[in-house]
Amino acid sequence: MPDTMQATARAVGADVALRVESLTIDIRTKSGVAHIVQDVSFTVAKGEFVGIVGESGSGKSMTLMNLLRLIDNPNLNVSGHVWFDGEDLLALPAKRLREIRGGKIAMIFQDAMTALTPVYTVGWHIAEQLRAHRALSRRAARERAIELLTEVGIPSPELRVDSFPHELSGGMRQRAVIAMALACDPKVLLADEPTTALDVTTQAQILDLIRRLRTVHGSAVVFVTHDIGVISDSADSILVMYAGRVVEQGRTVDVLAAPQHPYTQGLLGSIPTPGASRLTSQLVSIDGSAPTPSEQVVGCAFRPRCAYAFDKCFTVPALRPREGQADDHLDACWLQRQAQMDLRIEAGS
Ligand SMILES: Nc1ncnc2c1ncn2[C@@H]1O[C@H](COP(=O)(O)OP(=O)(O)O)[C@@H](O)[C@H]1O
Ligand SMILES: [Mg+2]
Repeated sequence: MPDTMQATARAVGADVALRVESLTIDIRTKSGVAHIVQDVSFTVAKGEFVGIVGESGSGKSMTLMNLLRLIDNPNLNVSGHVWFDGEDLLALPAKRLREIRGGKIAMIFQDAMTALTPVYTVGWHIAEQLRAHRALSRRAARERAIELLTEVGIPSPELRVDSFPHELSGGMRQRAVIAMALACDPKVLLADEPTTALDVTTQAQILDLIRRLRTVHGSAVVFVTHDIGVISDSADSILVMYAGRVVEQGRTVDVLAAPQHPYTQGLLGSIPTPGASRLTSQLVSIDGSAPTPSEQVVGCAFRPRCAYAFDKCFTVPALRPREGQADDHLDACWLQRQAQMDLRIEAGS
């Protein structure tokens, strides 16, 4: 079994909410095939909060949207498996998938308006969700909508239920969308930068709300953000994406305590001192920009920006656990593997 699969395979069982295996997304363009997402695998345990981080263009949204096959583009080729409740979402008939979308798996976006139709009220949207997945009378759906608006902290919910989306602030709209997402008690909530468009205070409130709802409803959360700081306190585990690949993944405590990939270290703004037991908080910035999917970088995609690149980096490093690290903490970097080999040679073992 490839190393990348070991961690996921171990976690398979009754406690798994979602398991993504080798998700790969290509797009046919005029100038050829562009690789947008390559070989992404991860497991989301029931009730777990998984964060996906990486700079803009790294393939986070494409990964998330394609878990539910939300992008209808004939030039897109999606392969791999997305296991949910014993079914592969990538292989399900469209009708069955529609039942799961918004029901057992809900999604919220950066722009709450994406999920809202301007001419309908907040209450209508929530009632639609309820009636699509549950047999509820109109009256019962409205009552449940008011309950949900209360739960997500919208003031005067009996009045707000009749508001139109444009009558709410950005933060209140995002709360309303979360109420819609929760209408069917989803097993998994997929969130694509849901706080990015909001001011810092509102951002913290929405994140807090998602965390709280997760505790109350037991839903797992997959939270995508370009800002590792947003989820570092909330996520149980983290995937770091760069140019369509996962370059590091593991439990958040492990990744934060000992980031292995130079890109993760750059994101965290600190680099470990070799041999030191703690991180030194030395600020580093990552110069340059990530390659686009149509730009082919030979070997590791981070190589042109990496201060440590050496000859081995012209080959793509596999995502693997490293000696001395937790075995579910994986990284795709040659650097310390080489350093460990050198140490062994020096020690004569
Ligand atoms: N419809 C499309 N056609 C061609 N390229 C696309 C399309 N959608 C996204 N991409 C490309 O896929 C890459 C990943 O995009 P995306 O998943 O949106 O990144 P992120 O969410 O991490 O910012 C980007 O380089 C983007 O330009
Ligand atoms: Mg995105």
